[in-house]
Amino acid sequence: MAASVIRKIGVLTGGGDCPGLNPVIRAVVRKALQEGIEVTGIRNGWKGLLEKDTLLLDLNSVSGILPKGGTILGTSRTNPTQDPKQLARLKDHFAQLGLDALIVIGGEDTLGVATRLVKEGFPIVGVPKTIDNDLSETDYTFGFDTAVNIATESIDRLHTTAESHHRIMVVEVMGRHAGWIAVHAGIAGGADFILVPELPINIDEVCAAIRKRHDRGKTFSIIVVAEGAEFAKGQTVLRDKKLDSFGHVRLGGIGDALGEIIEQRTQFETRVTVLGHVQRGGSPTAFDRVLGTRFGVKAVELALAGQWGKMVS
Ligand code: F6P
Repeated sequence: MAASVIRKIGVLTGGGDCPGLNPVIRAVVRKALQEGIEVTGIRNGWKGLLEKDTLLLDLNSVSGILPKGGTILGTSRTNPTQDPKQLARLKDHFAQLGLDALIVIGGEDTLGVATRLVKEGFPIVGVPKTIDNDLSETDYTFGFDTAVNIATESIDRLHTTAESHHRIMVVEVMGRHAGWIAVHAGIAGGADFILVPELPINIDEVCAAIRKRHDRGKTFSIIVVAEGAEFAKGQTVLRDKKLDSFGHVRLGGIGDALGEIIEQRTQFETRVTVLGHVQRGGSPTAFDRVLGTRFGVKAVELALAGQWGKMVS
């Protein structure tokens, strides 16, 4: 596609937040301003475009946000493609705001909406985002490194209390469809067993590994489990049955289920820790700040080159 004249760029963050979003926003704003482009921040993902809830982003708005977790723009899991009226409103607002380009920072759902709009001719560039690190065409997404570091530190801390009390510690980490956080934090933290959504849990194997450790004199073990891990295919443990607007269920509970079975079968006292949203909060690591910054700069370059429908990676 030919390069176009860009005077005004919009930027939004959608889906679950993740450390590194602010570095992307900051880089988008700084690069755009350098190129003489005005930047409109859209609050709370697609919801903000539906409500025309925007703010002007200048150098002052992004000053000091590099080390901050979360997103200064706010986020939501809003799917405007389900209702034709909402979709029409979204398109109207795009035009009314005078946007020559939109940079959409999001995961599979938010970028799915972006793809739909690109097919209808909207000038959109994507930036991939998830702590789960499971987006296709990417090696690393920002937020993942921070989450792995938080989970690793937690496993280190659990080691000392597990050893003192001679307990089995089950640590449930995030990872809806993919076990990247579990595998990286588990290896870095020296876990004795790691369970991921990609493979069914073999409880006999887990218990045998724990017994083997005890037989050689160890009185504690650490088991890391991703929230999406299943005992059998399709049997995901759910917190409740509510669906979000993209049809996703709320995961959570596999750690408790696992802990109960392990204690029953091995007769070793077991405790469960669910790390949850702690993994998504707080300051991004240096790696995530650099990756986010690079993505932000590149996204503006893609817009300047008229590369609509592309995602930086
Ligand atoms: O997709 C990122 C993620 O953190 C998943 O690991 C997790 O299942 C989900 O988001 C949690 O979403 P929410 O913030 O809506 O509870």
